[in-house]
Amino acid sequence: MRAYRIAAIAGDGIGQEVLPEGLRVLEAAARRFAIELTVTRFDWASCDYYLQHGQMMPDDWFDTLQGFDAIYFGAVGMPEQVPDHVSLWGSLLKFRRQFDQYVNLRPVRLLPGVPCPLANRQPGDIDFLVVRENTEGEYSAVGGRMFEGTERELVLQQSIFTRHGVDRILHHAFALAQSRPRKKLTAATKSNGIAVSMPYWDERVAAVAQHYPDVQWERQHVDILAARFVLQPDRFDVVVASNLFGDILSDLGPACTGTIGLAASANLNPERRFPSLFEPVHGSAPDIFGKNIANPIAMIWSGALMLDFLGHSQGPCRAAHDAIMQAIESVLLSGPLTADLGGKASTTELGQAIVDVVMHSPLVVEA
Ligand code: NAD
Ligand code: IPM
Ligand code: MN
Repeated sequence: MRAYRIAAIAGDGIGQEVLPEGLRVLEAAARRFAIELTVTRFDWASCDYYLQHGQMMPDDWFDTLQGFDAIYFGAVGMPEQVPDHVSLWGSLLKFRRQFDQYVNLRPVRLLPGVPCPLANRQPGDIDFLVVRENTEGEYSAVGGRMFEGTERELVLQQSIFTRHGVDRILHHAFALAQSRPRKKLTAATKSNGIAVSMPYWDERVAAVAQHYPDVQWERQHVDILAARFVLQPDRFDVVVASNLFGDILSDLGPACTGTIGLAASANLNPERRFPSLFEPVHGSAPDIFGKNIANPIAMIWSGALMLDFLGHSQGPCRAAHDAIMQAIESVLLSGPLTADLGGKASTTELGQAIVDVVMHSPLVVEA
C-alpha cells in the first residue's frame, strides 16, 4: 500500500488551533482504516515567518511542496502586523496559482443538530456545492496607480478571464452537476453591470452547457442569487462562479447553514500534476485567536475532503472520509459544541470528541 505524504501548514491565528485537531482526526482515521499517512509540518506561510524573514515563505517553497501529495492548510493573515494583500499574495494565492488549483470546491450543507438561521429549514433542504474559479478572474495583480497624491489620482484594477480558465471551471462544474442526482447547475453572472467579462462568461456557460444536455442549467445575476441563498436555498445543486463571486457566495452559503466554522474547502488541481490544498473557508479570526474556542469542524471536514481526493473516492480513503463525516454529524447532535454552535466547549474538546467517534467507527470498506 502506498503512503500519502501530507504537508501541514498551520499559518496564523486560529489556523494554529484548528490544524492540530484536524491532524488528530486524520491520524485516527488513518489508523482505523489502515491508511498510511506521513505528515510534515512547516511553520512558514505565516506572518510570524514574514516578520522574521521579510517574506512569507522560503525561496524553495515550490520544490519543497511539490514533493507532497496534498497540502493541509490552516489560515493566513494577521492584518495588524502584515497587510493582508502582502500575506495572502505571498502564500495562499501563490499556492492556488502556481499549483494550478483552479477548482475551489466548497460544500454547503445543513447538518442535523445545527440551528439554522433561516426559518423552517431542515437538513436536506440545503445541500449544494459552490464551485469557485480559483486562479484568475477578479483576483489579479494587474493594474496600477497614476497621479498619486494629486486630485487626478487614478487606480486601475484589471480582471482576467481566459477561454482556457473559464471553460475548464465550467466543464468541471457541469460534470459535477451531471454526477449528482438532481443534475442542476446555476451560473453566477453580473452581465447586466459588468460589460465585458460577464457577457463573455455567459457565452461560455451556454457553449459548455451543450456538452451536458442532461444538466438543467440557468444563469442568475449574483445579487439576486445571493438573496435566493437565503430565501430559496433548496433551489441550488451546483453553483459555479468566478473567483470573487464564488468567494462571497461561499461565506454566505455556510452562514445560512449555521456558522462559517463548519465551512470546508478543497483547492483542486484535478489533473494531479501538482498537490491540491485543503483548508477551511474561514480565515485566521484574530478576534478569537488564543482562546481555544474556534470551531475545528471546517478544518476536520477539509481533512475528510483531502482523504477522499487522495483515494479517488474509493476504498479505505473513501471509508475514512465517510467515517469522519459521520463523526462530525454525531458530535453535532450530541455535543460538546463550541460557542459559534451555541455551546461552551473548547476547540480541543470538540476535536477530541470527533477523534473518539472516528476511533470506534465501523470498519466498512467497499471494494
Ligand atoms: P475570518 O474568517 O477570519 O473571521 C470572520 C469571523 O468569523 C470572525 O468573527 C471570527 O471569529 C469568526 N470565525 C471564523 N472562523 C471561525 C471558527 N472556526 N470558529 C468560530 N468562529 C470563527 O475573516 P476575517 O475576519 O475577514 O479575516 C481575518 C484574517 O484572515 C484576515 O487577515 C484575512 O485576510 C484572513 N483570511 C484568510 C483566509 C485563508 O487563509 N484562507 C480566509 C479568509 C480570511
Ligand atoms: C478564501 C479567502 C481568500 C480568498 C483570501 C484570504 C485571499 O477569503 O479562501 O475564501 O479571497 O480567496
Ligand atoms: Mn473568502
